[in-house]
Amino acid sequence: MNAKDYPILYVDDDNANRVVMKHNLGGEFTLLCADSGAQALELMSREPVSILLADQRMPGMSGVDLAERTLRLHPEIVRVIITAYSDLEATIDAINRGRVSRFIKKPWTREELTAVMQESILSCHNARMVKELQQRLAQIDRASTMTVMASAIAHDLRQPLSYLEVELNTLRRDVSELVRKRSLLAHVLPELGPLVDRVSGSTEDIEHGLRKLMVISEAMVASLRNQEARAPIDLCKVVQSAVTLTRSTVHARAVFDVDLPEQPITVHASEGRLLQLIVNLLLNAAQAITGPGPALKYHVTLRLQAAPGAVTLSVADTGCGIPSERIDQIFAPFFTTKGSQGTGLGLAICKQIVEELGGTIGVESTVGQGSCFRVKLPAQ
Ligand SMILES: Nc1ncnc2c1ncn2[C@@H]1O[C@H](COP(=O)(O)OP(=O)(O)O)[C@@H](O)[C@H]1O
Ligand SMILES: [Mg+2]
Repeated sequence: MNAKDYPILYVDDDNANRVVMKHNLGGEFTLLCADSGAQALELMSREPVSILLADQRMPGMSGVDLAERTLRLHPEIVRVIITAYSDLEATIDAINRGRVSRFIKKPWTREELTAVMQESILSCHNARMVKELQQRLAQIDRASTMTVMASAIAHDLRQPLSYLEVELNTLRRDVSELVRKRSLLAHVLPELGPLVDRVSGSTEDIEHGLRKLMVISEAMVASLRNQEARAPIDLCKVVQSAVTLTRSTVHARAVFDVDLPEQPITVHASEGRLLQLIVNLLLNAAQAITGPGPALKYHVTLRLQAAPGAVTLSVADTGCGIPSERIDQIFAPFFTTKGSQGTGLGLAICKQIVEELGGTIGVESTVGQGSCFRVKLPAQ
């Protein structure tokens, strides 16, 4: 870790103080200066800043006010206030309310200041590492999700392929008969038409499967490229894509019921992340159906309901259910009951995605009857 990679923005209306600060921190750290809260906000919007170091007493906007605005606009920036004894109370109050991370009391010493800056940089560095790790885990989860879906489709392709093989064998036999006994012509010819139809039906099924595989691999490539920007999107459309991607996997085990409202539901989110959320819940629902008997006996139900300002997405299954003592564990990273078939990342990432959007995720479950995961998100 290089301290110079974490720029410090010092804000003070007093020019003499800025000169002193440059002298003290300029060598060891990357130091930017601003003479007011307004100038600091402007600078933070166009330059990468890791630490805000602001004097509390400034005309216009105080250090604590600036810290509060910074928290709202750039929550990743560590906020440090330099304060005189007389303003200590306001600063401590701001710390207790989470607006300010640390404070330095005037008059400060160079050692004290450097130590606080190093500590702040370390916490910035750790936060950056955690974020990177979370992103990598999300990528691993996406890759494993795509693998599960792709293998279900590959499995689907086996059936039309084996039909094709049987039909082609018949064709080969008939043709060689034809060649051998020209008299058989009358008997064989009427069979050839339907046979060719069946063959082309199978090739269509295979083509359809291959197209789905391509959709999945494109989605995987896009999500690995990290197209994560937030924008207003229609949640119904994302749900439809998730349903298309998981249909094969769910159908192999259950009847798939989807209940969507007619009108669009706008949420401000990253499309890729939302898709990951819904696909994870649907795959878990399908994988929870472990009982005997045909797929017709079981149900996976996805429902989307809009209320003013909020939207509820529920994914229910009539699968194995979750024992109550396990409910608390399932959202933890790496918790899985699927052995080497699971990563234990799905629900941890679902929770992260939902919480990033200011929503909640919960589950109700009864062993032997099934589970229902419910996601509530703020909507426009
Ligand atoms: N719909 C469900 N029904 C029953 N158990 C579930 C369901 N969804 C999740 N679980 C449990 O939660 C665990 C963690 O899920 P997840 O984080 O998606 O990881 P993974 O699917 O890789 O195991 C699963 O292993 C399973 O035990
Ligand atoms: Mg899972």
